[in-house]
Amino acid sequence: MKPQEAVKRIQELRRSIERNNHRYYVLDAPEITDAEYDRLFRELRALEGQFPQFLDPGSPTQRVGAGPLDKFQQVSHSVPMLSLDNAFSHEEFEAFIERTNRFLGREGFYEFVGEPKLDGLGVELVYEDGVFKVGSTRGDGYVGEDVTHNLRTIKSIPLYLLDDRFTVPRRIEVRGEVIMNRKDFLALNVRKEERGESAFRNPRNAAAGSLRQLDPRITAERRLDIILYAVGGYEGVEFKTHIDMLEHFNAWGLKTNPRNKLLCTMDDVFGYFSEIEKDRDALPYDCDGVVFKINSIPTQRALGEVSRTPRWAIAYKFKPRSAVTRVIDIVPQVGRTGILTPVALLEPVNIGGAVIQRSTLHNQDEVERKDVRVGDTVIVERAGDVIPDVVTVVKDKRTGRERPFVMPATCPVCGSKIEKLGDEVFYRCINISCPAQVKERIRHFTMRGAMDIEGLGEKWISTLVDNGIVTDVASLYGLKNDDIVSLERMGDVLAGKLIDAIQKSRKAQLDRLLFALGILHVGEHIARTLALKFRGIGDIGKASKEELQAIEGVGPEIAASIHDFFRTAENQRLLSKLESCLIIVNPYEEAVAGHLKGKRFVFTGGLAAISRDQAKQLVEHSGGSVTESVSKKVDYVVAGDQPGSKLDKARALGIKILTEDEFRGLVTGKT
Ligand code: IVH
Repeated sequence: MKPQEAVKRIQELRRSIERNNHRYYVLDAPEITDAEYDRLFRELRALEGQFPQFLDPGSPTQRVGAGPLDKFQQVSHSVPMLSLDNAFSHEEFEAFIERTNRFLGREGFYEFVGEPKLDGLGVELVYEDGVFKVGSTRGDGYVGEDVTHNLRTIKSIPLYLLDDRFTVPRRIEVRGEVIMNRKDFLALNVRKEERGESAFRNPRNAAAGSLRQLDPRITAERRLDIILYAVGGYEGVEFKTHIDMLEHFNAWGLKTNPRNKLLCTMDDVFGYFSEIEKDRDALPYDCDGVVFKINSIPTQRALGEVSRTPRWAIAYKFKPRSAVTRVIDIVPQVGRTGILTPVALLEPVNIGGAVIQRSTLHNQDEVERKDVRVGDTVIVERAGDVIPDVVTVVKDKRTGRERPFVMPATCPVCGSKIEKLGDEVFYRCINISCPAQVKERIRHFTMRGAMDIEGLGEKWISTLVDNGIVTDVASLYGLKNDDIVSLERMGDVLAGKLIDAIQKSRKAQLDRLLFALGILHVGEHIARTLALKFRGIGDIGKASKEELQAIEGVGPEIAASIHDFFRTAENQRLLSKLESCLIIVNPYEEAVAGHLKGKRFVFTGGLAAISRDQAKQLVEHSGGSVTESVSKKVDYVVAGDQPGSKLDKARALGIKILTEDEFRGLVTGKT
């Protein structure tokens, strides 16, 4: 065969195999037999072997083509991946409608699309001219991990979009959830247990663990599935409504949820909610509620977003499931800041597939308010994967032998004094070297989202601290093979892996390190906010309370906590130790230095791919600012659809005018 003929046949085969994948994995309606499919596949593989110049990572033969990676690359989302606001009752849903009406200055109802809320891992797939290019995890919403090689192994993800009914767009970022169906999850756990490996806690963890594998061969063995339900940026296509968008997805071969439904009245909405709740256990996947999205895209745009959630959608969660059990004991547990939390140890009970045997009672006041005593019969609730909660005591079952919980006067772990500060509701162990605190601080430090030290779980941390091998987070970096190899159940292989994982975390992202330090009130979001404003640890440490408080999202309590943290001698010692063993990089350095620092933007006309709020965020993340009116001080005017007089004024003043595409190229650094 001549190369020109071969390339033609190769392309035909690739399209045909992908079409059959779609029939089989998306529509669940195969058109050809397995034997015919295998024949096509073998023919393609043979041709690609004969003409290696035509090999392409986009070929169906290459779904598991790539070898293992060293680490994941980062991908920034050109449109942030938001999360959803929640409602827990009909009243809260009605309040959502009222809020929406107030915002838009109108009255009445909206057309909604109802979708089951899937419990998996949010991802984004980028298609260019119909070809799957890059796939990434949601990450913190702004920056995710490049998991393209793993996503390619999921057969329900098309490598090429179909263009039978709708032309494929120039570029589109489609978003959805990678899930593991319950039966595949159970089968995987059986296999894991047979191999003596620990089982996954739930399908969501199994999906996340399978997708975040450096070796795509492992992902390929796990049966993952995907359901698409949203878009990021897009060019070369327009959607009028959400349902219209889902229709386009279907036509392009992107899998959507067959249970999605257009709803036109409040009765429809509540009816749909009950319907999905009733069918919950019969669905093949875990589902913890229903997402309602306003159908009209112009209305969605007009609503925009607030504090990282869209105003046009809401997740209405199912009622938590509950069970009755008995409190065996109430024990104080020491956390990383020394706070003593009373925890109820329960007779094990199964709630919605998870065995529950402990539940936090939060603090002494809560124990008293609920009047929970050792020996009590209680009702425990669990909403989705959320930590279980003791809701009420069944007082009728009391025998008189129940024993109230008394907070000890000394720390149950180190014996130091317990203090209650001012009018705080918490009791604290004041010994900063208390082994329980040290363990919890290390556990927090090593967590995913923090320093992400794989394999260093609770048990090993406990062993290392109890044996005096590790005294604080910095001492992890001094560990050598010899220090740990002789520990019970450790051995050479595991020791090697642990040391490697610790060493790998030496190159630390500033935001992750800030989160890992466990500063009170500094979660992942605030840590990121700080990394966006300061170049490094030193600058944050020098900032005054006022400077910190001036940052959006940082209130007086958070500012005080950060300020105090950096002024405590013990923490200063720890930081200087960490600075000497870590290589700290700020992934937002550009934003801090500001590749758009000091640049002022004005928007006029409608944007197609992103909302104004999103555009503003993009500018601000790169150090620029957005103003309303055009003056000589403005650097760029972004002209969208039907621009107003601002555009004329910009022209008159000779200000640089950008199209939407040019603007996105400028802020994201992509062309
Ligand atoms: S839409 C702007 N639709 O829930 C809207 N999200 O709590 C963003 N999720 O991060 C998402 N099922 O990972 C949407 N049908 C659905 C969903 C869904 C599950 C997840 C998603 C998101 C999280 C927000």
